[in-house]
Amino acid sequence: MTEPGENQIKSRKADHIRVNLEEDVKSGLTTGFENYHFLHQALPELDFIDIDLHQELFGTNLNSPFLISSMTGGVERAESINTFLAIAAQEKKIALGLGSQRAALEYDQLKKSFQVVRKFAPDVLLFANVGAVQLNYVDFCRRAIEMVSANALFLHLNPLQEALQPEGDTRFGGLLEKIEKLTHVLNIPVVVKEVGWGISGETARKLANAGVAAIDVAGAGGTSWAMVEKFRMNDEMKRRVADNFRDWGIPTAESIVQVHHSVPELSVFASGGVRNGVEAAKCLALGACLVGSAAPFLKAAMVSAEEVVKTIEEFEITLKITMFSSGAKDLASLEKNGLKYTGR
Ligand SMILES: Cc1cc2nc3c(=O)[nH]c(=O)nc-3n(C[C@H](O)[C@H](O)[C@H](O)COP(=O)(O)O)c2cc1C
Repeated sequence: MTEPGENQIKSRKADHIRVNLEEDVKSGLTTGFENYHFLHQALPELDFIDIDLHQELFGTNLNSPFLISSMTGGVERAESINTFLAIAAQEKKIALGLGSQRAALEYDQLKKSFQVVRKFAPDVLLFANVGAVQLNYVDFCRRAIEMVSANALFLHLNPLQEALQPEGDTRFGGLLEKIEKLTHVLNIPVVVKEVGWGISGETARKLANAGVAAIDVAGAGGTSWAMVEKFRMNDEMKRRVADNFRDWGIPTAESIVQVHHSVPELSVFASGGVRNGVEAAKCLALGACLVGSAAPFLKAAMVSAEEVVKTIEEFEITLKITMFSSGAKDLASLEKNGLKYTGR
């Protein structure tokens, strides 16, 4: 593997944004949310106005349990995207994840598109982001956290994506031990996430033993990085190889259930194909405490901060109506109320 240079990194990041916006990159799998339904409550015995979406996480109060999932930074287009996401996250008091900061750690001039975020979102729960495979030394993560004054760190696991990328880093041997060392020395929470293929119950148990504070399942059913990488490639054979993985991964609903069952004491974030507030409610009822979404926010951020605000509000109002119609006054009651498995 040769280390990618600055221009190669910039062009990869620009490609990722373009391909996500222009091509059909949806997974061939569904999220599994269609297998679950709330029991409708004709007599909810509560006033809509009293429905409470507040959540506290890692010492920060959130107005609602939503996360703008990690996306971008390090390329020109990312500066306005991150600015709009930051303004909206600050206004709506929801959590925000940054895209991988690796390139900005290597090239100072790429930092700006990450650093604008704290300027516009001084109070949000902010996640720094680095690939677990790039975890060569603790100092690397500390610098990523300091660069943006983050409250927590996302470590992303993306073995399949790296294997499909011509310039990918596939040295995944011995990673768990490195993660464990990191969780012991960092003084902020470390959250491990996938990028759209899910995390199994068994892996979650190992990560919990390694000291991670939460797991974001980032399951299958939404954006497929096999498809994104496919559309970046010119070589026909490589495109076919990537295309074989359209149906790969653990669907999001299945991954939440596995992780929650395997490590009930651990905080679970749900993401991967969450596209509306009913689906978000299903994630919460299955045991998640925070629900993330990426692609819908990318589209909104191409327009304006107001458009991102509107997208958050649509998620929130739909979640509230779901809670009202299933008789859940707050997030804790959602898990207790009836979510029925109606799948095969
Ligand atoms: C344009 C774009 C860039 C992304 N870059 C990153 C990244 O740098 N780090 C990361 O952890 N996840 C990254 N992701 C993955 C998302 O955080 C998320 O896990 C995945 O897209 C599934 O969510 P979705 O189906 O709601 O899009 C990116 C997603 C998109 C759409």
